[in-house]
Amino acid sequence: MISQTLREARKYEEVSGKMIPEKDRPSFHLSAYTGWMNDPNGFFYYNGRYHMFYQYHPYDSVWGPMHWGHAVSEDLLHWEFLPAALAPDEPYDRDGCFSGSAVELPDGRQLLMYTGVAKKRMPDGGFRELQTQCLAVGDGLDYEKYAGNPVLDQKDLPEGASVHDFRDPKIWRAKDGTYRCVTGSRPADGSGQILLFESEDAFHWKFRKVLAENRNRFGKMWECPDFFELDEKQLLLISPQDMFPQGFEYHNGNGTLCLIGSYDEETETFTEERDQAIDYGIDFYAPQTVLTPDGRRVMIGWMQNWDTCGVLGPTSRVLPWFGQMSLPRELSIKDGRLFQQPVRELEAMRSQPVRHDQVTFEGEISLPEVEGRQIDLEIELSPGDPERIYQKFAVRFAKNDQYHTAVSFRPYESVVKLDRKFSGSRRAIIHQRRCLVRSENGSLKLRLILDRFSAEVFLNDGEQVMSATIYTEQAAKGVSFFADGSVTMNVVKYDLEG
Ligand code: FRU
Repeated sequence: MISQTLREARKYEEVSGKMIPEKDRPSFHLSAYTGWMNDPNGFFYYNGRYHMFYQYHPYDSVWGPMHWGHAVSEDLLHWEFLPAALAPDEPYDRDGCFSGSAVELPDGRQLLMYTGVAKKRMPDGGFRELQTQCLAVGDGLDYEKYAGNPVLDQKDLPEGASVHDFRDPKIWRAKDGTYRCVTGSRPADGSGQILLFESEDAFHWKFRKVLAENRNRFGKMWECPDFFELDEKQLLLISPQDMFPQGFEYHNGNGTLCLIGSYDEETETFTEERDQAIDYGIDFYAPQTVLTPDGRRVMIGWMQNWDTCGVLGPTSRVLPWFGQMSLPRELSIKDGRLFQQPVRELEAMRSQPVRHDQVTFEGEISLPEVEGRQIDLEIELSPGDPERIYQKFAVRFAKNDQYHTAVSFRPYESVVKLDRKFSGSRRAIIHQRRCLVRSENGSLKLRLILDRFSAEVFLNDGEQVMSATIYTEQAAKGVSFFADGSVTMNVVKYDLEG
């Protein structure tokens, strides 16, 4: 039985979503059907298609009572919207169906596990959110909330853990056929921790242990965990709130964190070895991964950040949707670090290659037929004069007389900067990020992917990625190259046709 609340949301999105012309959305990045989108949820391969759900407020392009939007794809790039999957329509989730994940049950049904949010009156008379973990079961289109909801609540929490910050379950099936899930939690020290729960049948859950502790090292509350094995390492992806910056690695505010370590399956103990940011750009948060049928670990994040949601500002909120997902990225571990590459499916979308080999230049140039807002641009840099390495290189894109977005590189500092301050924002918020790259003698590889309203920059074959949204007019589509000192570059540009 579909509730009135869900029926209304489905009716609204169908009418309102159809009114958004294709050209006003990203072409191959998933965006909100209509209204607002945040975190990816329930990313899972089910019955021959990838399912992506998302935090969704259909009725406005700002955050509101959370529903789950729903879309499917065969190649992770061409998405088809399905009707909204969940609405806040039960006493335990009436204030929101927050983030969660999905798994396939042995009987072929799909199980969604999400955070139910309900405001409760506190002893001091005020209202505060209680967060619990809930289930819904379905066939890939319609989902029924489990009668035993919530399946994890206050009484399942370890001592000191907050009932107000207990969310974002990521579920998986263990090798022995039983189930595990990890959630974000706030312990007594006020920072974050990741809890591990176990279940025989995916419906009856119990607390297993604290899997990882923040101890105030990386921000405060830890949101949206994901936990999996990759290239003989164990990875814990986390989105920490309220971070302090650390060198070039982490920045203030909401960030992303990848803990790389090992896992002892017997004792279910995670041992951290290294930490790094996941994305070094401006807009990326709450990523979630899927295991593809051919064994790849693919990650998609919300290509936005809570700290930069106001980038359009109240006076220039021009789009009837807000929020888009990042490119799906294949993950691997090399030299102990997380690497990300655009999914290989993207190659099938490339057309009209334009090559310019061994271009040596100083000052600002543009190259014939290198332009566009839906392009895949590969650039390989080396010094034009091996005796004197250049001071600075920059590529400026999404460019016209008024606007441009830029990626620059200073070889003496090994620093790459993404800058979108000339990209149409009227707000006094962060428009730049820097990251440290590995570079010898002025060499650097960049791959830049533009899709109408975003730019994702893959550096040195994916050792670092920097993402940013850009909401300028599509006519701003020029590309130019700048060098202070002599630079030699190989450039290949493809159009990315949907
Ligand atoms: C992360 C987050 C989650 C929560 C959801 C609410 O972006 O804050 O922790 O479940 O968004 O929409």
